[in-house]
Amino acid sequence: MPHFQGDEAVNYDSRITKLVPGYELLHQLTAAQLLTLLPDESTILIVGAGTGRDIIELANANESWHFIAQDVSADMLDIAKAQFTEHGLLSRVTFHYGELTTLDAPVDAALCLLVMHFLPDNGDKNTLLQAIRRNILSSGVVFIADLVVPETQFEREAQLAMCRTLGLTEIGEQRMRHNLSHEFYPLNRIRLAELLETSELSEPHTYFKALGFSGIVCHAL
Ligand SMILES: C[S@@+](CC[C@H](N)C(=O)[O-])C[C@H]1O[C@@H](n2cnc3c(N)ncnc32)[C@H](O)[C@@H]1O
Repeated sequence: MPHFQGDEAVNYDSRITKLVPGYELLHQLTAAQLLTLLPDESTILIVGAGTGRDIIELANANESWHFIAQDVSADMLDIAKAQFTEHGLLSRVTFHYGELTTLDAPVDAALCLLVMHFLPDNGDKNTLLQAIRRNILSSGVVFIADLVVPETQFEREAQLAMCRTLGLTEIGEQRMRHNLSHEFYPLNRIRLAELLETSELSEPHTYFKALGFSGIVCHAL
């Protein structure tokens, strides 16, 4: 798994838009749905908040929402903190540095965008989902986006071609090609549904799909 520390954290914002086709749209669509679902003064947990993109998008969508920014990388959270300061959002964000299993905070919704695909399906994905479920209220919704198992034999190649179109260099493409098979643990739909059910989360509904990346929404059972 990438460590998201040092240069990996510093370069994240310029790198990620070339690696995830539709990265900005994913965040916009997630925010649009939360806007229709959540009332004012809601609290949203951002699992793997990274450099803060999820929160900046949501904070602009509704000025009364509060956020918990959780991540296991202090470097990513430091960058997020600087961005929130710049955008005047710092007072609306509580930081949780460390594993989600150590958080105990009831929230109205949770986002877990581009995080769970880094965890092997050896109990680690389950642990994360259960920690999300434990923190959301009984009416809570969860948005998850990950690299998933390809639906066609040409989807991964098309994904890499799209990354080149988005500005990824040839060396970057080679690295991504290697990473796709060595650093990600993509799920298929059936296995994802099983893991959600085990964690007392509902069946998933797809709201985003861009080549290898899928976004789903589910709710607490
Ligand atoms: C690809 S970034 C996504 C960041 C952000 N959600 C976004 O959409 O830009 C993945 C983030 O997940 C974090 N991460 C990795 N494993 C994690 C875990 N077990 N719990 C929480 N965060 C984790 C990494 O440190 C990194 O900041």
